[in-house]
Amino acid sequence: MSGDGGGSVESVLREARKFDPPKAADVGATAWHIDSMEQYRALHERSINDPEGFYGEVARELTWFRPWEKVVEFDAPDAKWFVGGKTNLCYNCVDRHVEADHGNDVALVWEGEPIQPNGRPEVRTLTYRELLREVCKFANVLDKLGIRKGDVVTIYMGMVPELAIACLACARIGAVHSVIFGGFSSQAIADRVADAKSKVIVTCDGAWRRGKVVPLKENVDAAVNELRGTGGAGAGSMLRDGVVETVVYFKRTMNQIVWHADRDYSWRDLMVMADKWRPCEEMDSEDPAFILYTSGSTGKPKGIVHTVGGYMVHTYLTSKYVFNLMPDLSQPVRTAPAPNGQMYWCTADVGWITGHSYILYGIMSNRVPTLMFEGAPNFPAEDRFWDIVERHKVTQFYTAPTAIRAFMKWGDEHPKKHDLTSLQVLGTVGEPINPEAWMWYREHIGRGGCPIVDTWWQTETGGHMLTPLPGVTPTKPGSCCLPFFGVDAAICDETGKDIPQGGGLLAVRKPWPSMLRGVYGDRQRFIDTYWSKFDVDGALAQEGGISPYYFAGDSAHLDEDGYFWILGRVDDVINVSGHRLGTAEVESALVSHEAVVEAAVVGMPHEIKGTGIAAFCTLEPRRAPKDADGAAKLKDALRAHVADQIGAIAKPDSIRFTDALPKTRSGKIMRRLLRSIAAGQTHAGQDTSTLEDFSVLARLQESSEG
Ligand code: WTA
Repeated sequence: MSGDGGGSVESVLREARKFDPPKAADVGATAWHIDSMEQYRALHERSINDPEGFYGEVARELTWFRPWEKVVEFDAPDAKWFVGGKTNLCYNCVDRHVEADHGNDVALVWEGEPIQPNGRPEVRTLTYRELLREVCKFANVLDKLGIRKGDVVTIYMGMVPELAIACLACARIGAVHSVIFGGFSSQAIADRVADAKSKVIVTCDGAWRRGKVVPLKENVDAAVNELRGTGGAGAGSMLRDGVVETVVYFKRTMNQIVWHADRDYSWRDLMVMADKWRPCEEMDSEDPAFILYTSGSTGKPKGIVHTVGGYMVHTYLTSKYVFNLMPDLSQPVRTAPAPNGQMYWCTADVGWITGHSYILYGIMSNRVPTLMFEGAPNFPAEDRFWDIVERHKVTQFYTAPTAIRAFMKWGDEHPKKHDLTSLQVLGTVGEPINPEAWMWYREHIGRGGCPIVDTWWQTETGGHMLTPLPGVTPTKPGSCCLPFFGVDAAICDETGKDIPQGGGLLAVRKPWPSMLRGVYGDRQRFIDTYWSKFDVDGALAQEGGISPYYFAGDSAHLDEDGYFWILGRVDDVINVSGHRLGTAEVESALVSHEAVVEAAVVGMPHEIKGTGIAAFCTLEPRRAPKDADGAAKLKDALRAHVADQIGAIAKPDSIRFTDALPKTRSGKIMRRLLRSIAAGQTHAGQDTSTLEDFSVLARLQESSEG
């Protein structure tokens, strides 16, 4: 059993290195919240056996307007946490700290990408008090635009503080935000806006990326035109007229924009007129907090729904223990954090779940300054990240394996130029990390001593699920180690039978606070995708057929110490540079091009991205290229077309033209075969007994790749 994203079972199993956690003082930390395995085991056991007691205590560290009556209610697949409790996410991330006299503490430090004429990048610092004022103002702006509790606000912005302000403002008034990553195309925006029936889009004129401007507003305009049936590729293809009423744009880049009098408003114009105070809406613990679209195994992305209370508690708790956040070390000094104060930096984009949970909510609810960087890791040079770590004295650094592999390739000399001794805890997320990259990270960024927390989780889980704790867990390169508090993870077979050691499907057997509450507008897809895998005691045969266990879509291996090793996805999802893409999404983008009749997309090993995208296309005969030059041109055109349909992250790394795809007798494309061809293997050893047309395979292997 192996998915597209995983290393082979053997390579994982040969890894025998193990590193004990350092003492806090050894990495310059004041203390670890938890510093012994006994303590971890006792707390984990309590969290599983007595969730009422465990989570009751944790949740009381946050502010509730009305206490809950019951901690958890679960009737698979539906969970309710902190039932009857009233609270507000924005209140707990901002107001709470101002009211506790920490209004002058640094909440957010932002660094822009461009280097200014004075040789320095632009840096903005917002205290909790300043953030509160901006959030209140934007909440009032949304109110003026007609947004009420429960309405969906689409946010498609670059990495600027206003993105955080917009999210928090939604949380404040109970609007549901749907953030779309700035790398997505206008088509992707249109699909998500239509699915969420969102009336307002908040965007920027443009975003800086590697010295260039990404035209965000232009993409929004194209999406709105398509939705209104007034232009764009799919114009008039759907009757979605009048969905978007308002576009608010924040000017960041001086990029030329087209202004539409009927719908466009400038952020700054609206903010000047807005009132400076707005109370927090009392939210029920189970009210929706946000939707975040993620790829699945069909062409249509699904809107993962998270709710207020459980999400807040789990992201708060995981941030605190996994990153060892200690707010009281963050001195209440306006611009300069204390010498040993904490400065947390996650390099993800807020457009992904990692940014939601571990740039915004989990970090802000812990009152530790969160750093937000606008741009690319190699602009203007390959040492940009290390320059940032040195200048801002970053203490926690959280990034993705794909970035680490790029750093390795760029060379050790870049981190060497900088003082990285402020770092205490390093983290990774998004895909399995290969042991070589893990060792490099530890050696060259972590001074051979910082603990590395390899955190396994998903958009659907809301927060960390499997992870070491920095002062506790002996780590093994490539393993995400042990379950976090409240997480009852196991490796199971399809009947839900526990596999105490060895490989199988990753299951979560008990509810956890930040679990997804549904797929927006699609109950059946929620059940089919996550709650239909494990036939525990014949559960699936019964009416309704719901599995009591959550199916993550990953396969994993459990070793003799009970450590988890993620092998990769078992569905048709590939993990490119830590970003999920459905093969079906890329396929439907390819076939929407006039030259392509049929397409099959699989993952292939890629040095930097972990998994790259390999596409096999059969062509419309009249459009088939005549020579190598024509083939190269068509491949470029197809790559551009996919970027246009989905976004640049979905561009195939390799495209092959073929006159037929290998299929089983029932017509299913044999992806397993395509995967081995894409990986450059021959089909020796592959079972081809069900292959319809053997000659197809031979021609595929001959066809030139590029
Ligand atoms: C993969 C990102 C191995 C996994 C937070 C999962 C990982 C998918 C890890 C979720 C890790 C994430 N080790 N694999 N530490 N973290 N994954 O929704 O396949 O963008 O199912 O959430 O990424 O991706 P998503």
